[in-house]
This record gives sequence, C-alpha cells and structure tokens, in this order.
Amino acid sequence: MVFIRKSADPTPLVDAVFSVVAMAKKDKLENGDENVVDATIGSLYADDGKLVALHTVFDHYDAIDQRVKAAYAAGLKGNPSYREAVYEWVIAPSKADLCHSVIATPGGTGAISVAVTTFLGAGETLIIPEIAWGSYRLMANENGMKTATYHMFDGDQFNLGSVKETVRKVMQEQDRVVIIVNDPCHNPTGYSMTVQEWQELIAFMNECSKTHPCIIINDIAYIDYSNDTDHVHDYMDTFNGISDNVLITVCSSCSKTLTSYGLRCGAATILAKKEESVREVEVIMEKKARATWSNIPNAAMENFTWVVRENREAFEAEKQEYIDLMKQRSSLFLKEAKECGLEVYPYKEGFFVTLKIEDNSVRDKVHEALIEKHIYTVKVNHGIRVAVCSLPLRKTGGLAKVMKETEDSVLKG
Ligand SMILES: Cc1ncc(COP(=O)(O)O)c(C=O)c1O
Repeated sequence: MVFIRKSADPTPLVDAVFSVVAMAKKDKLENGDENVVDATIGSLYADDGKLVALHTVFDHYDAIDQRVKAAYAAGLKGNPSYREAVYEWVIAPSKADLCHSVIATPGGTGAISVAVTTFLGAGETLIIPEIAWGSYRLMANENGMKTATYHMFDGDQFNLGSVKETVRKVMQEQDRVVIIVNDPCHNPTGYSMTVQEWQELIAFMNECSKTHPCIIINDIAYIDYSNDTDHVHDYMDTFNGISDNVLITVCSSCSKTLTSYGLRCGAATILAKKEESVREVEVIMEKKARATWSNIPNAAMENFTWVVRENREAFEAEKQEYIDLMKQRSSLFLKEAKECGLEVYPYKEGFFVTLKIEDNSVRDKVHEALIEKHIYTVKVNHGIRVAVCSLPLRKTGGLAKVMKETEDSVLKG
C-alpha cells in the first residue's frame, strides 16, 4: 500500500553537497585536518577552520530577552520594523523607486519557494540557469512544475541570447514568464552581471510583457559578500524601467548576510509599477506563509533590524574582514589557475569558484580522482565547485595546480 500522494516523486533526495561534506569530515577525523582539503562547505569559515559567527550579530542576539525569543512574530508578513529594515538594507541603497512590499520568510529558500509557488502552478515551467543552485529544480519538481534552462555564459559575459531563446520558447506554451536570476555573486560560478547586462535583460522583459506577464525572481543570497558593497546595488536602478506587466521579487537571506544560516530568516521583496500588482502578490504570499511556516522567528527579525539600524557600521566593518579574506583566497586560486591553465567560469566575487568541465562524465571522474587525493569539492552541472568561503588560505595555495594535474590525467585516461 502506498501512503504518499499520487503526484509525489518517491526518489530519495540525493544532496550533492551534504554527502560529500560528510565524506570530507570523516577523512579529516581519520587522517588529520591538515592532510585534507575540504572545499565543500558553503558557509563562511575563518582560516582557523571554524565557522564564522559575527560578534556584531551574535553578541546582541545572545542578550535578547528570552520572552522576545519565545514570542510569535507580530504578523504573518513579518514584524513591521523588520519589513522596513529589509527594504532599507536591500533596496534603498539603489535608486529603485517602485511600489513594494516585504514578506518575511524562512531564509532565502522560503522566499524563492513562496515566489515560485505564487507565480506558477503545476504543469507550468520555471526558467532557471543551467548551472545553478540545486534547490531551484527541486522546488519546481516538488510542485509538479517543469524547468527550462538558459546558458549562463557567452564567453565571459552573461548569455542574454540564451535567455531570450529559452523565454521565447516558454512563451509559446505558457501565458507567463517566470525566470530566476541569481545575481550578484552567482552560486556556483561567482559571476555578477554588469549594469548594462541588467539593462538589456529588463528591456527584453519589457518587450515580452506586451503579451505575457513577466516575473523576475532575483535571488540575492550572496549580495553582501560582493567585493564592491558600495556599488553592488547599482543594478537595481534598472528596475525603475520595468513596464506595468513586469514584476520583480528580490529574495534575500540573513543566512549569509548575518552568518546566521540556522536562524531561518529572509525576505521576499515584491516590486512593481502598480500598487495593485504588489498587493495581489502580497495577499497570496501571506496566505502561503500562514499555510506553511506561519511566522518567522521573532528574535531573528528583531536582531536583523537592530544590526542593520543600530550597529550597522561595526557590522559592516566586521563583515568586510571576511570579504577581504575571501578575496585573498579567490585571487590566489585564480592566479594559480591562470598560471597552470586550469579553466574556470568567469568569477567576479562571492563564495564559490567553479572549474569549467563541460562533460559531466569527465567531471565525475575528476571529482573522484580529487577525493583520492583527499581534496573534496562539490559537483555542479558542467563543473566542480570550490568553496573559497570555507577553504583556508594556506590550503588554497597550490590547489589549482593539483586540480589541473588531476584533470589532465583523467583526460589522458
Ligand atoms: C543561490 C542560493 N540562494 C538561496 C540560498 C538560500 O539560503 P537560505 O535558505 O539559508 O537563506 C542559498 C543557500 O545556499 C543559495 O546558495
């Protein structure tokens, strides 16, 4: 007898990250930490090998009254002060000036998930990047949706041509366009689109919106670890150019921003030209919130609000230390990769650098051969992800060369 719903996909979840993280952990226990290169973990780690928990975030969190931690949130859409603080933090640094509403969500995952299920129903198609965070596809599958993919790159640039091709195909079958754009600091390649590329994307969406409503889900999970935090919001200025039939949902996450992955706090910020479009979406998202997670941890919201309003300078200074550290790691890796001819996707900033290996069967062999050398990475579509967010600088040096040698020996057979 089968108990699960008829439409459920019974295939067990194989999480490419968690399984290899466990292997690396075991190897470190058996062979000693210094003999293992663990570039799997997608959280920020200091060079001492420990998870970073920012003092400018957690000292205050620890001091929050227990009753504030115990209490329900003030509303299903989130605490009013949190919703305002999210807008101030995420959108206000740009010149974007659109009708808006913020919905508090359990992390960026909750924001993307509520967006996907608000805009699309079973049988419809979600457009995602070909190289992407695995959860997008899972979200589509779990909701009976299909996916269509666009190529991320044309040489070293964003592949708008591929976006156009994919969107046009979907428009022939469906009355709307819903596309995920994970930018800036794309996971897993570390690419960030230029303002010009965003301008062109918005112009294309406007063109499509003459016949189809178009929704851009902009996943900004890693934005606060850009190398240029002063200008990283500039691309949002282009949002002002959207037509009445384009809507943007910006999905942000406190996980990376505050190094608080386990606190499950994020937001979906709805942006549109018309107030009624925003309200329409807000109504559905609020009901979805009530029906799934109900409300977001009260103290997590209160803490975010305090950090970005009252402790902003100190927080930004502490965060900057780690941006600089990641920059040191990624620059060293990229310099050595260039020297030895190891091919990587066009990295600009962020948590991950990804080796370019078009053939997934070659990728599998390289990944396995690296594990034999006690080097742990994560397989992604057409590549191997190196988490510079967690890889100590002393283990970064020399790594590109070993990877290149490994790749070469796999290719030689
Ligand atoms: C691209 C991307 N988006 C969103 C998220 C969401 O993270 P969280 O749900 O912890 O906020 C992640 C986490 O790894 C991610 O890599």
